[in-house]
Amino acid sequence: MLVHVPALLTAEDVMHCRNVLAASQWVDGKVTAGAQSAEAKRNLQIPETAKEARELGEMILQRLGRNERFTSAALPLRVFPPLFNRYDTGMKFDTHIDNAIRFVPHAPIRVRTDLSATLFLTAPEDYDGGELAIEDTYGEQQVKFPAGDMVLYPATSRHHVKPITRGSRWASFFWIQSMVRDDGQRALLFDLDNAIQSLRGKGGETPEAVQLTGVYHNLLRRWAEA
Ligand code: NI
Repeated sequence: MLVHVPALLTAEDVMHCRNVLAASQWVDGKVTAGAQSAEAKRNLQIPETAKEARELGEMILQRLGRNERFTSAALPLRVFPPLFNRYDTGMKFDTHIDNAIRFVPHAPIRVRTDLSATLFLTAPEDYDGGELAIEDTYGEQQVKFPAGDMVLYPATSRHHVKPITRGSRWASFFWIQSMVRDDGQRALLFDLDNAIQSLRGKGGETPEAVQLTGVYHNLLRRWAEA
């Protein structure tokens, strides 16, 4: 399941991120890549432990915490501290799969990467190429969203970033360990939650809405590790 989360960040948030990142030191993106993906990866990143990354990461975590669409789609248990990358003209990231387990630097915390997230920090009209291409059960999906928007996709999927042919593409990226590990179960819960919200919006608190809410929570109880 691919989920578009529009306007996770406001225009001011995006501007703030870009200003802080512009003044930060970028390093070769191979630092967070596994052995296979290091070969495939040509980009720049802010070091994981950089003060700027932590500060902006905190802001993103706060925005995620109050975003209903993100919460409903990801059912988050743990979120890896957001990282930041940049693809200048000629840079790309060939087909790879993200590591299954991530270790939070300087903390005894592991995150199983159930979902991958890319939060766009550059307007699509400011660069050419740079689409995030995700191999889904229905074929390849290409994603290029407005600055401030985020895409969530199963971390189990192969994906790549197409070469940039003009401009520079900045983004934040991170992973989520979900309370519900299985993507199919998570997709079902997301669908059900959306249907219940819509039903309640139209008819208010009907007995059917209450019953379906019960079904939702009882499925979640059955499937969630909390
Ligand atoms: Ni990746």
